[in-house]
Amino acid sequence: MARPDPHSYADDGQPAVRRLDLRARVDFSAQVLHAQATLSFDPLSTSASLDLDTRDLAVEGVSLPDGTAVRYTVDRPEPILGARLRLELPAGAMAATIRYATSPTASALQWLAPAQTAGKRHPFLFSQCQAIHGRSVVPLQDTPRRRIRYRAEIDVPADLCAVMSAASMGRRDAGSGRAVFGFDMPQPIPPYLLALAVGDLESRELGPRSRVWAEPDVVERAAWEFASVDDMLRTAEGLFGPYEWDRFDILTMPPSFPYGGMENPRLAFLTPTLLAGDRSLVNVLAHELAHSWTGNLVTNADAEHFWLNEGMTVFAERRIQEALEGPDVTALHAAVGRRALDRAMARFADRPELTRLRTQLAGVDPDETFSEVPYEKGYLFLRALEEAAGRARFDIFLKKYIDTFRFGTITSEEFAAFTRRELSGAFEAVDGDAWLFAPGVPRGAPEPRAARLEALMALVPPASGEAPHLPSAGQGAAFSPTEWQVYLGNLPRPAGTDLCRALDDRFGLSALRNADVLASWLDVALTAGHDAAVAPAERLLAEVGRMKYLRPLYLALASRPETRARARALYDRCRDRYHPIARQVVEGVLRDQDA
Ligand code: BES
Ligand code: ZN
Repeated sequence: MARPDPHSYADDGQPAVRRLDLRARVDFSAQVLHAQATLSFDPLSTSASLDLDTRDLAVEGVSLPDGTAVRYTVDRPEPILGARLRLELPAGAMAATIRYATSPTASALQWLAPAQTAGKRHPFLFSQCQAIHGRSVVPLQDTPRRRIRYRAEIDVPADLCAVMSAASMGRRDAGSGRAVFGFDMPQPIPPYLLALAVGDLESRELGPRSRVWAEPDVVERAAWEFASVDDMLRTAEGLFGPYEWDRFDILTMPPSFPYGGMENPRLAFLTPTLLAGDRSLVNVLAHELAHSWTGNLVTNADAEHFWLNEGMTVFAERRIQEALEGPDVTALHAAVGRRALDRAMARFADRPELTRLRTQLAGVDPDETFSEVPYEKGYLFLRALEEAAGRARFDIFLKKYIDTFRFGTITSEEFAAFTRRELSGAFEAVDGDAWLFAPGVPRGAPEPRAARLEALMALVPPASGEAPHLPSAGQGAAFSPTEWQVYLGNLPRPAGTDLCRALDDRFGLSALRNADVLASWLDVALTAGHDAAVAPAERLLAEVGRMKYLRPLYLALASRPETRARARALYDRCRDRYHPIARQVVEGVLRDQDA
């Protein structure tokens, strides 16, 4: 009997929960779900304990299908894991039903008031379960090592619509102004992929297997921005094998969604900051789609092997992008990623253990260690393997990897063994063990190459001591959003107020509509002490809750004595609008800068 996942009470000597039947009543006024979860497992030959993960759940009772009460205990909550719920099950049991309510502060749920939505007329609810927040919504063995199938019936106000990471089984009127939406997820998923959203939603068809959901005011823009999804799907199938999840729909989230995207199966969640009006940010869509193979089909065994989800998926995302937009565009994205990786390495200078691909996270909150390292270092490792093996051989390897581990989980050690066997020569040639188990970026890591990239880098001579050049008006006007990212990402920090003023005067960067480029610019400008950037930064931070922007911009504001008080005041004003996970991040940043 052992607990293999440092972030779960699940014990591999105990029965494995195989399916979940969830019934939940969504109460917007109390901000709770009143729920019952029936967990099914193989019939027990002897009596057994079953340890489940919970966080902030009020358990009301547990019973067998025949109504017999089940004895249970809820332990005192641990800070990261939450509270263990132990059921004492009799021999012969095959299922147990837990009646419970969630807490208004459930870490996986954000309850939005009408004012926080695009339409301003209806409330909105969404979940974000990765990595270990699912337990605040459903009592489960909340570890990827325990895959479940699920069905759900979600009872909501009749003027709202419920969507989940599952096939829709229709809607029925429940009377008294309520409606019930049914769902079925026939493929087994790790519990972190359980997902729910409720709001005033409409959809548009994008292709035979895809539609996009959004609030009515946003849905047309979303349909335009994400129109390439079907091309992406077909391209990805060519690269990685058949799509196993039947449909790939998209939900455009409210602005407080804390991530760029979340790969909930059958229904990817995407931030509305991708709606740049020029389709320049759809690599995030390609990324979440790519998780359908790397992550959702082949899943990291636990958070210590997160790079196997994200590094693999960045690699897959860029292969899809390369096929659709060409290698030069992908080289630019890889160059942006490389600078982000360098900054993450610098951030963890005094915690080098967090710059390993395979991490040790017992006693560590996975949200606190989130960074670009598993994404971009993981990507570079796979690129190194690809270069050593040659693309043809690496493509065969990738397909075999997916086929071997599909609907299963994998650790870094298993990946090493598989790669040694299937890609012999390459693993040793790149020193795979150093990539996996040592901190930092190994010497000789692959460098992105493209003519466009060289032209851009001539403007920002690295480490030569030469000052960066201001792009000419014509050059700058011709930059794509990604080229701006390369340029801005390669400026020295701090960049100097003269350069910032000149950039802002010439190109009006503080008024950009592309949120990603705007955030990169504001980061550069605030760090340089360019005061004209403060007001636009405050505006962005009051509108959007995406952590990719919150962390650097709050850090830039809080690290300068001149703007520290404004950072605090801004946070106090916006706090209620941010997601619980985002609040933790900003509070961490502000705390570090106070100390
Ligand atoms: N699965 C992640 C988001 C995530 C990671 C949620 C860890 C919770 C814990 C998602 O696929 C992701 O990586 N999103 C990125 C997209 C980018 C790398 C293209 C994001 O949100 O920025
Ligand atoms: Zn991802």
